[in-house]
Amino acid sequence: MEARAAFEALATTEGRQNPYPHYEAIRAHGGLVPVKKGSLVAVGYRECARVLREPALQVQDGTAFDRVYPRWRAHSSVAAFTDSMLYSNPPKHTRHRAMVNADFTVQQVARMRPVVERMTTRLLDRVEKLGAGGAPVNLMDEFASRLPMAVVSEMLGFDTDRQVWFRDVASAIAVSTDGFADPAALAVADTAMDELAAHFGEVIARKRGCPAADLVTSLVRAHDADPGRLSRDELVGNMMLLLTAGFETTAFLLGHAVLLALREPRHADRLRTEEPFAAAYVEEVLRFEPPVHVTSRWAAADLTLFGREVPRGSRVIVILAAGNRDPRRYPRPNRFDPGRPAGQPLSFGGGIHFCLGAALARLEAQIALPMLVRRFPGLRLAGPATYRDRWVIRGLRTLPVALGPH
Ligand code: HEM
Repeated sequence: MEARAAFEALATTEGRQNPYPHYEAIRAHGGLVPVKKGSLVAVGYRECARVLREPALQVQDGTAFDRVYPRWRAHSSVAAFTDSMLYSNPPKHTRHRAMVNADFTVQQVARMRPVVERMTTRLLDRVEKLGAGGAPVNLMDEFASRLPMAVVSEMLGFDTDRQVWFRDVASAIAVSTDGFADPAALAVADTAMDELAAHFGEVIARKRGCPAADLVTSLVRAHDADPGRLSRDELVGNMMLLLTAGFETTAFLLGHAVLLALREPRHADRLRTEEPFAAAYVEEVLRFEPPVHVTSRWAAADLTLFGREVPRGSRVIVILAAGNRDPRRYPRPNRFDPGRPAGQPLSFGGGIHFCLGAALARLEAQIALPMLVRRFPGLRLAGPATYRDRWVIRGLRTLPVALGPH
C-alpha cells in the first residue's frame, strides 16, 4: 500500500479502531516518509526520537497558527493551549517549564504515594458497592478516569468536590488538541474552556487571599511577582494544561493496563503477588498501547533528516505509537511482553517537551493496578471493551467488568 493511502486511512473510523497495521504499511516505505506536499511522517523509533530532539523542529505556537488559521485566537480552548508550555517554543517554553519542573521529579512525586493509595482505596470502595451482586461496572467511568483527576487536583490545590466536573470539562477541551477539523467539537471545547477560565479566576483570587502549599499557589505567586515572566493568560493556560494533560492520558494507561491483565490472567496473578512486576508491566503497557499516539513539529528552517529534505514550514507528524512498535528497536513488537528488556518507549515524548508528569503517571499506575487486582481476585471482563473514535489521544470508552467473588 502507498504511504499516503495508509496515512489517510488513519482519518477513518476503521483506521482509528486499529491503527497499527496502517503504521506498518507506512513504515514499509521507511522510518521518515513524505505523505503529501509539506508533510512527512516519522514512524521509526530512531526517527521519532530524533525529530523530537531537533531544535529546528518546533511545536506549533501562536506564530505558526497565524499562518495556517489566522482566526485561532477566537477559539479560547486553542488559545489556552497556545499560552501554555506545551504549545510554546524556547525561550517562553524554558521559562514556563522551569517554574514547575521541581514539583514533578521522581523524588518529589514519590511523596504522593500515600495520597494515591488513599484515593485508590476510596474509589475501589465505591466500585465494590456499584458492582455488588454481579452488576457490571464500567471501569473507565468509575475508576480509570477518576483517579488521575483526584490526584492532580490534590497536587494543584483544586477543590476536591469538583473532580467530576473537571473531568467532563477536561474531556471536552481535549478535543481541541485534534486541531480545527471538527467545528462543532471545537465550539464545545471553547465553551468548556470559558467555564474553566471563569472558575480559575475564582481559584486565583482564593489562593491570593489564602495561600497554600500547592502548585497553583506557587504559580499565582510567580505571576504576581513578575507578570512579564508569567502573564495572566499564561497562568490560566498552564493551569488548564496541568489539569487536563494528565487526566485522559493516565486514564487510558490504566484502562489498557487492566484490559491486558484481564486478557492474560497470569499477568494479573503476577501483579497480585510480585511487587516489582508492576513497574515492568506498566512500561510494557506504555509501549504497547501508548495513550498519546501522535504529536507533530514544524520546521523553523530548511533541514535534511535521514536523507529526506524537510523544507522550512513543513510539518513532521511523529507517530509515537508506531515508533514503539518498530521491529528494529523491539523484536516481535506486536507481542505484549512485560518480560522484555526496558527500551525507553516514546510514550512520554522526548526532548524539551518530554512529559512533565511521566513520574506521576507511572506512580499512579504502579500503585493502582496491584491494589485493584488484589481487592478483586475474581475480576473479569463483562462485555466488550470499546474504543473512543479518536486518534491523537487514544483509549477506551468502556471497560465493563464483573467483580466476581472476593
Ligand atoms: C507532555 C504523554 C501524563 C503533564 C506530554 C507529551 C506526551 C505526554 C507524549 C509530549 C507532547 C509533545 O512533545 O508534543 C503523557 C502520557 C501520560 C501523561 C502518555 C500518562 C500515561 C501526564 C501527567 C501530567 C502531564 C500525569 C501532569 C499532571 C504534561 C505536560 C506536558 C506533557 C505539562 C507538556 C510538557 C512541555 O511542553 O514541556 N505528555 N502524559 N502528563 N505532559 Fe504528559
